Amino acid sequence: MRVSTQLEFLPVTSDLAPVVHNLYLSCPTYIALIGGETPSLNDIQRELETLRHDTRRQAVLLRQGERVVGFLDYKVAHPDRHSATISLLLIEESLQGRGLGKAAVEQLEALLKNRMERLYAVVYGQNEQAKRFWERMGFTHLRDSGPTLCWYLKHLR
Ligand code: ACO
Repeated sequence: MRVSTQLEFLPVTSDLAPVVHNLYLSCPTYIALIGGETPSLNDIQRELETLRHDTRRQAVLLRQGERVVGFLDYKVAHPDRHSATISLLLIEESLQGRGLGKAAVEQLEALLKNRMERLYAVVYGQNEQAKRFWERMGFTHLRDSGPTLCWYLKHLR
């Protein structure tokens, strides 16, 4: 069932590492696609700690009401000061295909559009579903950086 929804962007702090970890555990298809290694809770904690030192990096949990439905990791002023780059949008597997990913991207675009001119999405691995999703969201394929890294771009204004 498709939902029309407003998502809350909840900044991720280290104490929320178990929530992010659970989200990864709930996405086995994606984990298999990127090589099958589920990050450990420790990996997530370390990553969130790194992130704390990079003020341009924004990691948010996507919350619908009381339920965490996804995770979004992006960086502002990257790769240049007029652009932002999404490195991961992850929607809980059982909730995919209901419009939540689209809602997250639309909300992010609205948030950034007065500050940034361009939004990039970097797709890792042989992730054809993700490529189709970004194209559906109005992004165009920009370039491949090696066999497993694809850059997509959308102009925000
Ligand atoms: N093939 C074709 N179209 C698709 C696909 C697909 N596999 N997935 C979504 N779409 C289309 C939908 O049909 C919909 O189009 P519509 O508005 O015309 O109906 C539109 O994209 C939005 O679909 P949503 O339901 O919002 O997509 P969803 O909530 O499933 O989010 C996402 C998409 C983020 C790819 C999700 O499926 C997911 O988390 N997948 C696993 C993790 C992943 O691969 N994330 C992307 C990595 S790349 C990166 O983040 C930069």
